[in-house]
Amino acid sequence: MASVDLNDRIPNNVDLASDRRLRRALEQWQPAFLDWWREMGPVAGAVPEVYLRTATSVDRSGWANFGYTRMPDYRWGVFLADPEPDRRIGFGDHKGEPVWQRVPGDYRAALRRLIVIQGDTEPASVEQQRHLGRTCPSGYDLRNLFQINVEEGRHLWAMVYLLHAHFGRDGREEAQALLERRSGDADRPRILTAFNERTPDWLALFMFTFLTDRDGKFQLYSLAESAFDPLARTCRFMLTEEAHHMFVGITGLSRVVQRTCEIMRDHGTDDVRRFGVIDLPTFQRYLNFHFSVTLDLFGAEVSTNAAAGYTSGLKGRFHETDIDDDHRLNAAGYLVLRWQDGAFRKVEVPALNALNERLRDDFIADVEVGVGRLNRVIRSFGVDFELTLPHVAFNRRVGAFAELDVTPQGAVIDAADWRAREEEWLPSASNRAYVASLMPEAITEPGRFANWIAPPSRGINHQAIDFEYVRLD
Ligand SMILES: [Fe+2]
Ligand SMILES: [Fe+2]
Repeated sequence: MASVDLNDRIPNNVDLASDRRLRRALEQWQPAFLDWWREMGPVAGAVPEVYLRTATSVDRSGWANFGYTRMPDYRWGVFLADPEPDRRIGFGDHKGEPVWQRVPGDYRAALRRLIVIQGDTEPASVEQQRHLGRTCPSGYDLRNLFQINVEEGRHLWAMVYLLHAHFGRDGREEAQALLERRSGDADRPRILTAFNERTPDWLALFMFTFLTDRDGKFQLYSLAESAFDPLARTCRFMLTEEAHHMFVGITGLSRVVQRTCEIMRDHGTDDVRRFGVIDLPTFQRYLNFHFSVTLDLFGAEVSTNAAAGYTSGLKGRFHETDIDDDHRLNAAGYLVLRWQDGAFRKVEVPALNALNERLRDDFIADVEVGVGRLNRVIRSFGVDFELTLPHVAFNRRVGAFAELDVTPQGAVIDAADWRAREEEWLPSASNRAYVASLMPEAITEPGRFANWIAPPSRGINHQAIDFEYVRLD
């Protein structure tokens, strides 16, 4: 793959130069994007220079490109993973046929919907994280936040490219609308609920990147299987960026837990707030909250929409090609958790209808690995506390459990009891105020870290931990 010329008005590896109509459409969208970035992108104070990576090609060596960038000068562009020669559709009714380079008329509306929903999450998370630069625990963390934000901006570009290139006038309208909705706005909210929640502090950011960016990973993996090859290729490249976002999440959470456990060990106490760190029960409540709202993103347990998306080849399963079955699923079943006759029971439903649930199960297994890692940190300090994921039916708003009031342990209780005990399980206003009180200002001096978080074990791109990751004016 030829490398990308970052001096192009729109850096790309899709030969925009030879498609005047498309190039013009994207050049018209670009100023609207930049307006959105200025209005809703990170508040960077004095516009800093940030040590960022910028893709110059989609192969591994393309990622070696690190350097100081002024945030608004970041080179957003359109990058697709290289095409696979003779790629075939891997699942559904069209299994074995060549993948599509154009959108089949029958699937146009459904494909556009998938792209718009994915695209909408990208700017939403930037909006949610807009103010966090004011309270960063270090220049290292600020750099990571900005890296995530510019890449979410690029993910928006990725989806907008598909809309402009393949969906004509309605694609252009959708691309415009992606810049008009706003996270948390009462009149023009983002499409999915979790992307309208606030991300008010850095613990919430690390939870979000650990959990909600991980939902993104699973959605992107299933779209990377798509029969619509441009979508598959764009998602495959996005996944390489997404990995860093989840790295920021798990390492951020590990560092928080580490710092708290250091205090618990050194002072022999659970009463850590007087030492200015985050107590583990508060950490657990944040985990409960972010886990439950992220589970909702996978949709209803039983979904004919998901079935249709699969049989028509639009969206596959996580690691579809590695799964040992017929990749059509017309006869297969899948066990789905249901609340039935006073108990949670696994009930077999047609596998085709259970694709959301299956993806959610894959996600949960991945999250459990991360929680295990956090618990190992806790145990390494000899601290007697175990983080756990709440029951899947806890605090749900989407799907079969939305009507139930369930404790994190999985007991169904009545609504009034649940509300009375909610603050045991979810961050209360005073929990959030405490966490926010630890982060009164931005810390950016190289090598300095806020008291509530341990420094990372290594720097970015082999740089030292006290490297100057951001340069303020
Ligand atoms: Fe993204
Ligand atoms: Fe992300």
